[in-house]
Amino acid sequence: RTPSEVGRDLVQWFLENQRDLPWRRDYSPYGVWVSEIMLQQTQVAAVVPYYLRWMKRFPDVPSLAAATEDEVLLYWEGLGYYSRARNLLKAARLVMERFGGRVPDTEADLRVLPGVGPYTASAILSLAYNRDVPVVDGNVERVAARLLDLDVSAKSPEGRREVLRAATQWLVPGKARFYNQALMELGAVICTPAHPKCLACPVAARCLALRHGTVENRPVRSPR
Ligand code: ADE
Repeated sequence: RTPSEVGRDLVQWFLENQRDLPWRRDYSPYGVWVSEIMLQQTQVAAVVPYYLRWMKRFPDVPSLAAATEDEVLLYWEGLGYYSRARNLLKAARLVMERFGGRVPDTEADLRVLPGVGPYTASAILSLAYNRDVPVVDGNVERVAARLLDLDVSAKSPEGRREVLRAATQWLVPGKARFYNQALMELGAVICTPAHPKCLACPVAARCLALRHGTVENRPVRSPR
């Protein structure tokens, strides 16, 4: 089996086993953006009702850009980290002014938006526009650290490099939307921090940590 088969197995598994989540219906750039911001410091189950209410009231960039900050904060109330909501509003107004209301599709343009860092930019590019870029979040770090049996922290410079190299190598060209979500989904439901369900894992046969009996010790925890 070639390395890219990890990606193919992940994509197939995701398409057959993904949770039905509201932001996985149409992958509009605006919907991906809003959901990824909400998901940054909040669990999936808590985000779902907020996302649905938000998208009903602010279904697109123009409706958000025209809202008052007070109303936007009302719809965010309870999610916490309110700068996320204020940044979304500022960014929506900037998208109207600079990009004619269309969510940008380049890294450089996305990164000028308040609240959009490297993670959110790559998530929008790959999930909404299906561009061949890897997305690395905490789930992806853990999955990669285990598949590789990485013996340095995933947060260390060397660890980050290895995780990014692997996530790039496994990426199935033309399938970034599903590939990246497969890695995140695997980390969320199978390759969990404690008691991972290796018997249900679609890539267990390629997992070096499972082979070496080190799954519970990966990723290695150490200071940043
Ligand atoms: N966490 C971050 N992005 C996610 C997504 N698209 N689906 C589920 N959990 C996520």
